[in-house]
Amino acid sequence: MRTLVFPDRAGAVAAAASAVVAQLRQQPESVLGLATGGTMEALYEALIGAYRRGEVSFCGARSFNLDEYIGLSPEHPQSYAHYMQRRFFQHVDFPADATYLPDGASSEPEAAAGAYEADILRLGPIDLQLLGLGRNGHIGFNEPSSSLASRTRATRLTPSTLTANSRFFARGESQPSHAITMGIATILSAREILLLATGAEKAEAVAQLVEGPVSAFWPCTALQMHRDVTVILDEPAARDLRMVDHYRRDDGIGQADPVSIGVAQTGA
Ligand code: GLP
Repeated sequence: MRTLVFPDRAGAVAAAASAVVAQLRQQPESVLGLATGGTMEALYEALIGAYRRGEVSFCGARSFNLDEYIGLSPEHPQSYAHYMQRRFFQHVDFPADATYLPDGASSEPEAAAGAYEADILRLGPIDLQLLGLGRNGHIGFNEPSSSLASRTRATRLTPSTLTANSRFFARGESQPSHAITMGIATILSAREILLLATGAEKAEAVAQLVEGPVSAFWPCTALQMHRDVTVILDEPAARDLRMVDHYRRDDGIGQADPVSIGVAQTGA
């Protein structure tokens, strides 16, 4: 796991956007895994800016979103399908049929989840998976106690997540209690993973993610089992890390695969 700490949120967001742009430049037909939530809004704004400046194109890419609320149609303003259209897709050149989200409006959510997993297996693997981080350590909507081997499925949200996300719903508006989410094993099958977390309210989950023991109680810790994860943080989110000085000194060497370092040393 590579942990990068930036002085502020803007620096963290810019670094995450650069990584996405670099991925698409290197591989225009990339399959991207996309995320929603407040943290991602600034990332999508940065990517729209890069697109408008001609620095990146999405015309050869495909995308799979992590999750969707059950019971909301894609036209519902609080659905993640609507979020993605409004905040990203309608501003860039993704082909309309190349952006996938779970079908939260299906009357058979488990079947819809299975079909989504099958689509990922058929059209994937995901080359670069973007992740936000829940305050309770959830990734996608994999709440504490989710199986670390889970695949895409219907799941129930915890009171902590419902409270955290209630800010997106108007007073009196009904808030879905269930969602379809990629599973933890689905997420881990991406080739590369980029997690962006900013703000002090994420500090406890970040400390578990980077330095805690692997546990289904903190689903984000499953990322420790993946060999190509970059965690991008601002200083408030990094506040509780015991080795924060070490991460601040990251000079890029951490990108090298230990095996290739061994080979280089042998050859020298
Ligand atoms: C939702 C999404 C997650 C996201 C999380 C963080 O719960 N399902 O994928 O990581 O929000 O949201 P925010 O960035 O608003 O804190």
